[in-house]
Amino acid sequence: MSQGHRSFQAVSCDVVTCDVVTLMNFSKTILITGTSSGFGLLTAARLASHGHQVVATMRNLDKKNPLLAEVHKRGGTVDLFQLDVTDKKSIQAAVQAIVAKYHHVDVLVNNAGYGIGGFFEDLTDEEIRQQMEVNFFGVQNVTRAVVPFMRERRSGKIINTSSVAGFSTSPAFGAYNASKWALEAFSESLRYELSPWGIQVLLIEPGTYKTKIFHENARYAKKFDDPSSPYYSHSQFLKKKVLDFVDHCRKDPEKVAALVEKLIHSPHPAFRNIPDIESRMLFMLRKTLPFRLYSRFINTALFADFKD
Ligand SMILES: NC(=O)c1ccc[n+]([C@@H]2O[C@H](COP(=O)([O-])OP(=O)(O)OC[C@H]3O[C@@H](n4cnc5c(N)ncnc54)[C@H](OP(=O)(O)O)[C@@H]3O)[C@@H](O)[C@H]2O)c1
Repeated sequence: MSQGHRSFQAVSCDVVTCDVVTLMNFSKTILITGTSSGFGLLTAARLASHGHQVVATMRNLDKKNPLLAEVHKRGGTVDLFQLDVTDKKSIQAAVQAIVAKYHHVDVLVNNAGYGIGGFFEDLTDEEIRQQMEVNFFGVQNVTRAVVPFMRERRSGKIINTSSVAGFSTSPAFGAYNASKWALEAFSESLRYELSPWGIQVLLIEPGTYKTKIFHENARYAKKFDDPSSPYYSHSQFLKKKVLDFVDHCRKDPEKVAALVEKLIHSPHPAFRNIPDIESRMLFMLRKTLPFRLYSRFINTALFADFKD
């Protein structure tokens, strides 16, 4: 008989019962969007391995294998549902099925998103609107479907994934910045509206972490690589700079998953939550410096070595 099995036998029935009750109280039903990769995947796997009932959603279930492999590695289970945050029918179907099965949702993690690179004049209306459809309206679509069930129980937590790009801006990321700034304003207002119902709304604002958002899932304006664009040399320079920075980035995206977990367990979480020290420092600079100085700092950091 293995040592592990022997030590299990040594646990008394009372202790086992107590552990099961504790686990039931502790375990939450958590709906996460965009779990096919990155923060969403890691958060789903981490929470599942710690005993939560994770409802992992993704827009294309053909991409489920990396998540399932991670869950298999760590232990626990996830329940998979197809959900595209821009498709209200898919949201309705998923939320109805989830509520029918679990009767409630304790936590909603609005994670799905992408970033489009491009100077304003290189971006089409459609490209900018699509960015808003996913990062801003997508969060509203899922939140609108889930809130009534939280309100009914007078309890719930909504964690919206913003970014440093939600409080600071940079050239060539205006559309992404606008989507995250809009998300921040919406989240702040919603926090007031839902707090009387016992529902907490909060933000996470990660800095740069190496996920698929910068490579496989990266999107650029159609005119981004067009040499006839007046912004061509600037956009090529910035793209290289960002990708070099990302490729040297050693920050572990698991930190973001760990922050989400901490916020789920925190009875009174802060509204803004920044996982990494650089982004916390940037936030302090943004808050304290006059904008003239802050923007000079950003411009110098981005373009000091630019040669046209
Ligand atoms: N990585 C960073 O440095 C960073 C920093 C700050 C904030 N963020 C934010 O963190 C969130 C997650 O990004 P990530 O870094 O983990 O990137 P990622 O690896 O590219 O993951 C993005 C996830 O969003 C999903 N998604 C995109 N559009 C969707 C839609 N219409 N409906 C449902 N799911 C959709 C993707 O699904 P598909 O596989 O189907 O495309 C993927 O699962 C995003 O909101 C992003 O803005 C990232």
